[in-house]
Amino acid sequence: MKGILFLILSWAMSVSMSKCRAQQRETYAIEGDAVGLHCYTGEVMQNQTFSWTKDNDSVISSPHIFKGSSLWILRTVSSDSGHYVCTSFSNSTETGHVESRVLLSVEKEKCPRALTPIQVNEGEHINLTCTEDSIETLGQTLQVQWWKDCESTGVQGTEISLDVSMDSTGNYTCMVIFRYVGENYTTSHTRQLKVLKKEPVEKPQVIHPRNEILYVKPGMRIKLECTVFIGLGEEAQEGTSVYWTVNDELMSDIFPQLQENVTCYLQMGEDDRFYCKSTLIISEVNATFFDVPFKCIVLSSRGSDMGLVSLRQGGQSNTQTLLIIAPALIIVVGVVLFMFFKIDIILAYRRLCGKGKTAAPGGKIYNAYVCYCHDNSIGSSTAENLALKIMPEVLEQRHDLELFIHGRDDASAEANVADMTDVVGQSRTVLLVLPGSGPANPIEEISNIPLSTDQDNASHCQVLYSVIAQCSVPVIVVESGENADYSLLPESIQSIIQRNGILRWSPAVQPSGRFWKQLRYHMT
Ligand SMILES: *[C@@H]1O[C@H](CO)[C@@H](O)[C@H](O)[C@H]1NC(C)=O
Ligand SMILES: *[C@@H]1O[C@H](CO)[C@@H](O)[C@H](O)[C@H]1NC(C)=O
Ligand SMILES: *[C@@H]1O[C@H](CO)[C@@H](O)[C@H](O)[C@H]1NC(C)=O
Ligand SMILES: *[C@@H]1O[C@H](CO)[C@@H](O)[C@H](O)[C@H]1NC(C)=O
Ligand SMILES: *[C@@H]1O[C@H](CO)[C@@H](O)[C@H](O)[C@H]1NC(C)=O
Ligand SMILES: *[C@@H]1O[C@H](CO)[C@@H](O)[C@H](O)[C@H]1NC(C)=O
Ligand SMILES: *[C@@H]1O[C@H](CO)[C@@H](O)[C@H](O)[C@H]1NC(C)=O
Ligand SMILES: *[C@@H]1O[C@H](CO)[C@@H](O)[C@H](O)[C@H]1NC(C)=O
Repeated sequence: MKGILFLILSWAMSVSMSKCRAQQRETYAIEGDAVGLHCYTGEVMQNQTFSWTKDNDSVISSPHIFKGSSLWILRTVSSDSGHYVCTSFSNSTETGHVESRVLLSVEKEKCPRALTPIQVNEGEHINLTCTEDSIETLGQTLQVQWWKDCESTGVQGTEISLDVSMDSTGNYTCMVIFRYVGENYTTSHTRQLKVLKKEPVEKPQVIHPRNEILYVKPGMRIKLECTVFIGLGEEAQEGTSVYWTVNDELMSDIFPQLQENVTCYLQMGEDDRFYCKSTLIISEVNATFFDVPFKCIVLSSRGSDMGLVSLRQGGQSNTQTLLIIAPALIIVVGVVLFMFFKIDIILAYRRLCGKGKTAAPGGKIYNAYVCYCHDNSIGSSTAENLALKIMPEVLEQRHDLELFIHGRDDASAEANVADMTDVVGQSRTVLLVLPGSGPANPIEEISNIPLSTDQDNASHCQVLYSVIAQCSVPVIVVESGENADYSLLPESIQSIIQRNGILRWSPAVQPSGRFWKQLRYHMT
């Protein structure tokens, strides 16, 4: 076999020989090229001979055929396609031993078809090799060229080196030109490269606790809970561990009595996120555990993370919270109390400072100008009663306030704009008593608009409305009943009602009742 060099052609990830033998293999060749069919001998025996058959007929020798452990067809034609079997014989055994079955397809293509694809990950670095021990070349190798998708890459040599990107996907053809018995031949093989997209790596992460201080009392039973994001999908769990350390030592080593409990769950969503919860149970806290780091650790090939918990002697926490919360609480309670007792507080303050008793400042003589506007309905007499009898009793006698009451203090019943402007000007407020329909009188549908039958009073009230509209005296509207219809009142009065609301009096109101407090609060 001198002069014949065996160039070994192969692929980095070629299938093992035993597998090849077990199954029918396929080989593709381009018409006109050379092709080598290889007999995969398990162990090489001495004095071994090989016999080749094609479609049950023995292969006849010719100048274009070389027979050995490989059968070379140097110039293929399509009729060479067929089913080839290699049988080996040796001196020790009479019967032949079938080593290989190959199905050869000779095709009219530029590049041979690819066989089993190789899968590689994006970002990896791989070398595709054209020289290994499973495929042999006859003769002297002149050149090895690399083609991708049947286009020249310009790369020569037995290896092509790839930094795998998604663009690396494709069919790589290794084309070997060799010289045998004075002639040049070409043989080629194609491998398909499939690139798997690299998924972004999701690193595991301790979500809670990150860095926590817990105030506990000795003797307490506590649970330290740690939530960890493991990764995407359930398979992220593989090779991942979640555990606690105490003072940087494995908990089970120094405190076997502490219990650790890990439960994991998949949170379904857009991408299924896998979490684990590790609970460390300390059945009885003692001084040993104070101020040492408790670490919740997650460790996997994708990364690691850590959460820290420290235990501190208890009590402090409550004091601290109290220090923060107490002032806020006091303020809130204070505000609430003030809102609730605002009127009483202000009235008490005024009493203490002697304010409001007399209408002295600013030349004011009266605390209020009281005017009841009524017609002859039942509600009207209530209003009149309130203005003429009850108000003086409560406000004048009990609380020493000065009132000017229309119908009691005016010299004449005639409505006189000048006089009234005078009196109103001397008053700090105007108390306008309006009759409601009254709870005693719910059947009465007609509203008690104080503009009707009693001409005297009605005109008096109209004068008052215009005086009010001109003077800047505060007006307090008191309704001596309920459900009055104010829609017919002058707009100025309506807007006062809208702005300030009305005080509603009923005969059930006690002299010390809230109504009087509110009234006094607004009067002074
Ligand atoms: C191989 O053949 C040689 C003679 O050519 C012989 O001496 C030798 O014993 C043979 N070996 C075996 C294993 O049969
Ligand atoms: C064994 O085979 C070799 C060649 O394959 C041959 O030369 C030799 O004579 C054989 N020996 C016997 C004992 O058959
Ligand atoms: C080869 O012979 C086997 C039986 O010995 C038969 O089953 C098979 O079809 C034959 N193949 C061809 C291509 O003739
Ligand atoms: C690569 O080869 C495979 C199998 O022969 C074929 O299906 C595929 O389309 C080829 N890819 C390219 C890019 O030529
Ligand atoms: C690929 O080949 C280059 C040189 O061409 C070498 O440095 C590298 O180690 C090889 N890589 C592998 C995975 O064989
Ligand atoms: C064979 O190839 C070599 C180198 O590529 C070249 O020099 C030579 O002429 C070729 N011979 C024939 C017969 O094509
Ligand atoms: C661990 O946690 C699971 C679920 O929360 C609970 O069912 C189990 O009893 C716990 N095991 C221990 C030893 O506490
Ligand atoms: C605290 O408890 C641990 C285990 O629970 C124990 O090993 C240690 O001696 C105790 N230390 C004290 C000061 O009680």
